[in-house]
Amino acid sequence: MSIDTTNLVEQIIALKRRIHKQCPNLKTQFKELEAVLSKEIDSIQVTKEKGDSIIPEINFSDIVNNHVNDSTIRAVKRRGCTIVRNVFSDNQASRWYEELESYLETNGFYYQKDPELDNYFSDLKADKPQICAIYWSKAQVNARQSPNLVKVRSFLNRLWNYQENEKLHFDPDRECSYVDRVRLRRPGDTTLGLSPHIDGGSVERWLGENYQKVYHSLFSSNWQGFNPFNGAYRPEVEGIDSPAVCRAFRTWQGWTALTKQGPGDGTLQLIPTTLGISYVMLRPFQDDVPEEILCGATEGRAQAITDVWHHPLLRGLISIPMVYPGDTVWWHPDLIHSVEQKHSGSGVSSVLYIGSTPRCERNISYLERQKQSFIEGRSAPDFAPEDFEVNYPNRASMADLTELGKQQMGFLSKVGS
Ligand SMILES: [Fe+2]
Repeated sequence: MSIDTTNLVEQIIALKRRIHKQCPNLKTQFKELEAVLSKEIDSIQVTKEKGDSIIPEINFSDIVNNHVNDSTIRAVKRRGCTIVRNVFSDNQASRWYEELESYLETNGFYYQKDPELDNYFSDLKADKPQICAIYWSKAQVNARQSPNLVKVRSFLNRLWNYQENEKLHFDPDRECSYVDRVRLRRPGDTTLGLSPHIDGGSVERWLGENYQKVYHSLFSSNWQGFNPFNGAYRPEVEGIDSPAVCRAFRTWQGWTALTKQGPGDGTLQLIPTTLGISYVMLRPFQDDVPEEILCGATEGRAQAITDVWHHPLLRGLISIPMVYPGDTVWWHPDLIHSVEQKHSGSGVSSVLYIGSTPRCERNISYLERQKQSFIEGRSAPDFAPEDFEVNYPNRASMADLTELGKQQMGFLSKVGS
């Protein structure tokens, strides 16, 4: 599903005029939202100043034993993020890290020519990629197909309204594996920092027909009624094809830590409130914004959160607390996040990017394209076609997929059990 991008300015102006007519009290609505949000951001700041973390944490064993209490569940929904600890043992995660390093080293990854950049990574130490475009190491494949992650994803997906009457928006218990890369960020690195943004596109959030349905409450004088965990229309939202946009439907973005990493180690930062998206969506309709502007939205790019347009939100940006090998981090696809500009710590901060892409028509179609990439060792279809692993003899093959892995990859008809 795509949107017409030929006359974006006209579309934006027409949209704004229509919304102002449809929702004449937009200004009052925004003021109310701002007041509630301001208190929310204050609470994030106060917690930070006390040296505590506001990001809810869950122990994996509590998911397994069905012991996660209601207040934690409410906190995850309010904050739009969580850290699930001890999903894998320290030993297991550290072993994956060693395997990964050896996979990169023995296959000469850092000495390969990058067809995109037209240079060798090793020419300049600082140019070594901190996110490695590899997809099919056995460590990654084994982590993705782990039954432990099935339990975590299933728990988190069930926080969504995934079903309405007879209609299943997506199956919370079955995964269509969305294959992503790995991060090995080295101390001193300043190349990987990312400024605050929201993934999943920008202009399409306002202009796409299905996205408009997702955010309908915000434009119907009912911002309090917006439920970020309502799965209706989410798997059908529009996208603009671009290397910056994920074409699958993700209920959660996430990663698994392979090494210990904390604030200052070049880690993830979040604005942990699901009210953030409401602010971002309503901000362009305020009086100080030119009619053709959608505040930080540029075609084919992630939604930028900027000091110019979203100043009150940025007070709430915090680094996630220390995580250890085997911990996992999850955030809602509407949540504002960034990556620390510099790795000032002393160890490599390494993660496997693994979120949740549950079974739905959109994700099943994505699998169809991804299957061939796996067989040939090419880059996953959403990413630049560097295809580094085509000639790596020890990349994962069909023999490394468990039955569950085959289902999640779409090689067995029962997808993603
Ligand atoms: Fe992102």
